[in-house]
Amino acid sequence: MSKNTLTITDNRNGKSYEIPISDGTIRTSDLRQIKVGADDFGLMGYDPAYLNTASCRSAITFIDGDKGILRYRGYPIEQLAEQSSYLECTYLLLNGELPSEQQLHEFIEQVTLHTFVHENIKSFIQGFRYDAHPMGMFLSTIGALSTFYPEAKNVYDHAVRTRNIIRLVAKVPTIAALAYRHSLGFPFVYPDNSLSFAGNFLAMIKKMAEPRYKPNPVLERALDVLFILHADHEQNCSTSTMRAAGSSLVDPYSAVAAASAALYGPLHGGANEAVLLMLRDIGSVNNVPNFIKEVKEGKGEKKLMGFGHRVYKNYDPRAKVIKKLADQVFEVTGKNPLLDIAIELERIALQDEYFIKRKLYPNVDFYSGLIYEAMGFPRDFFTVLFAIPRTIGWLAQWGEMLEDGEQKIARPRQIYVGQERREYPAGRPHPFEAERNRGFDIG
Ligand code: CMC
Repeated sequence: MSKNTLTITDNRNGKSYEIPISDGTIRTSDLRQIKVGADDFGLMGYDPAYLNTASCRSAITFIDGDKGILRYRGYPIEQLAEQSSYLECTYLLLNGELPSEQQLHEFIEQVTLHTFVHENIKSFIQGFRYDAHPMGMFLSTIGALSTFYPEAKNVYDHAVRTRNIIRLVAKVPTIAALAYRHSLGFPFVYPDNSLSFAGNFLAMIKKMAEPRYKPNPVLERALDVLFILHADHEQNCSTSTMRAAGSSLVDPYSAVAAASAALYGPLHGGANEAVLLMLRDIGSVNNVPNFIKEVKEGKGEKKLMGFGHRVYKNYDPRAKVIKKLADQVFEVTGKNPLLDIAIELERIALQDEYFIKRKLYPNVDFYSGLIYEAMGFPRDFFTVLFAIPRTIGWLAQWGEMLEDGEQKIARPRQIYVGQERREYPAGRPHPFEAERNRGFDIG
């Protein structure tokens, strides 16, 4: 009869060990018993960038990267994009089940109730320079929110946690919009709680002199679908940051600020902005073959942004939905002239040996930037548009982590490769004296 164990023979001393396998994994802490001497720490796993290490058990999001499958709480992303709404998905991610009609109604009411931010927030947004990157404003303002809700540090109090999760979900669009209006020097717009989540966000972005802003229903729904597609993506860089920061039991505002910082990078949520820059650089469909050649010759130095994924080795299912959504948006806004370049890039890349061999397919960011741009959002705002919906993913994963009895403060091990012990040189002048006595001519 087959056993769910792994037998390891240590060829250093011939000893054998039997290690349990569960859920297709071994616990690397089980390797610690493998030692060659009493003062040996024991065998560790070495896995830079966590290529093959599961850091948690999670019931939230399922991805099969080879098959191109993404599900929230079991529901396929394509069905949610078609039949659900962002707020319903928020409820689903948080609670594990779809809400009843009554539960959804109450949930929408609660989120709507929390859309306003303290007036002081406006003053410190005003403190940023006019050309501050919106992601910089966004992530620091989220961090600053923790000072308004000190109760949020009671992370094990379920009611407090839920209240602050709802606050965060409700306030991120408002903060994003404040950052946007500040960068343009436009007056701030208060939330309009009679509108949908996406509609209210568009109103806070677009409203000028009109007494009430009426969002275009196609664009409003398109934004809602984009929010659904970006809501969670299991243990990506920013979510792992959320879990790691949250594992110190810091409040959720500070942890979301940390996760937002991780999202900001061009290899993660910054990729949609990088795609647009790349398309602009290419400039015309005729230049596409040459660009692809440069990417291939660059051997990783120059990348086809919006292509490739750590987990998907197939077409990213979100990219498929976005490609369709783009047609609907462009009917309202007119076609983004960069679309033809993107389509040609995709066409050539998908039949090129370099990309086929490495299983590089378009990811969520390849087409999303084109839609955002057509909707009138500036390029440096794209990552903020990613951060708004990803906030619920971070928070759902954070809540799951706090309730997981196996989780502790995140603290990886290292392989030390530095100097052996050496003595500090005797007789060296004390550097602190030099610092204290350096003198400074104040005129
Ligand atoms: N263009 C050209 N070559 C690529 C690309 C690309 N976009 N992505 C990967 N490769 C090559 C890479 O050079 C490597 O080649 P080789 O085996 O010859 O060294 C091979 O493919 C494997 O790539 P990797 O860098 O080991 O893959 P990874 O899992 O570490 O990185 C990634 C994943 C998403 C960071 C990477 O594919 C990338 O930088 N893509 C462009 C940026 C991008 O679109 N990011 C958005 C990701 S999806 C949304 C999100 O997570 O926020």
